Amino acid sequence: MVYAVERDVRRALTGGNAEMKTRITELLGIEHPIVQGGMQWVGLAELASAVSNAGGLGIVTALTQPTPEDLLKEIERCQSMTDKPFGVNLTILPTIKPVPYDEYAQAIVDSGVKIVETAGRNPEPFLPLFKEAGIKVIHKCTSIRHSLKAEKIGCDAVSVDGFECAGHPGEDDVTNMILLPLAARRLKIPFLASGGLGDGRGLAAALAMGADGINMGTRFMVTKEAPIHDNVKQKMIEATELDTALIYRSFRNTARVFKNSVAKQVMEIESRPGETKFEDIQPLVQGVKGRELFEGGDLDKGIWSAGMIVGLIDDNPSCEELVTRIVAEAEDILSNRLREMVSG
Ligand SMILES: Cc1cc2nc3c(=O)[nH]c(=O)nc-3n(C[C@H](O)[C@H](O)[C@H](O)COP(=O)(O)O)c2cc1C
Repeated sequence: MVYAVERDVRRALTGGNAEMKTRITELLGIEHPIVQGGMQWVGLAELASAVSNAGGLGIVTALTQPTPEDLLKEIERCQSMTDKPFGVNLTILPTIKPVPYDEYAQAIVDSGVKIVETAGRNPEPFLPLFKEAGIKVIHKCTSIRHSLKAEKIGCDAVSVDGFECAGHPGEDDVTNMILLPLAARRLKIPFLASGGLGDGRGLAAALAMGADGINMGTRFMVTKEAPIHDNVKQKMIEATELDTALIYRSFRNTARVFKNSVAKQVMEIESRPGETKFEDIQPLVQGVKGRELFEGGDLDKGIWSAGMIVGLIDDNPSCEELVTRIVAEAEDILSNRLREMVSG
């Protein structure tokens, strides 16, 4: 009862949206344990600043910028749009065209940003530079063994990306129902649950399973500030949980994308007998086509990353509305529904 009164007072003071304190909010200096993961072509200053202004952590995606100089400018643009902390995603993946990763990393340091999300490969080569600059590193991992490795090499936190996630879920196909409790048992550093999260139930469940917060990609694509065409957002609102596809399985570089006609063609080519050569699918999956799809709204222009959470997306709110709603829902579940179950 006392608790309920305290909560009501807190709600009144915070406009109905109480703060949630976790190891992640403490580490990152944010109000709510909600992070927007790096997203190629989507992680621009508009979205990152909106998430940070809403009390979460927005993330600018480094490789969406054609050069390290452009990244520096994009970070400056984001700094002009928010006073709150935000981060930068550095995705280290094998690419056809070599990427000057060292220069991107240096641009991040020069910008003064203090939080980096790394993904793809082991971030160890970049850690001395980031640590020297006082940057907190969150490494995104799709397995417990990689999470433990990230902890061992000195990352400050990890994002545990379950099989449900958009983008690259790895090759183990283990869902968050297993990964999160395992992470809770074995990791000492704070961790975010990533993949398949988009509402208050998800946040409450992730916290219950031991996570210190959540990382969302797909859900943030369908927000007013996400810089992509309304056709894409509308399509994702209409989609169900069955509307994603796994491609690149034959290359052991699996990606979860929206199941449009192009993704279906890629799946069909990969399922043909014999080895699939990347040249067979390359014209369909070019990154530039994905960017054009987001800009122009032609939904069959190329492929785009999307997670199973599309099945739970049914509106296009502002980031402020979304973050506020998720926190309020989770708080209600934790302090009412679950509390009633155990207090009887
Ligand atoms: C459109 C899109 C692009 C993405 N691009 C990247 C990327 O460039 N680097 C990266 O580390 N993760 C990328 N991700 C993955 C997200 O950061 C996040 O880990 C993932 O979306 C979590 O799963 P969810 O979509 O179910 O929330 C992308 C996700 C989406 C939806």
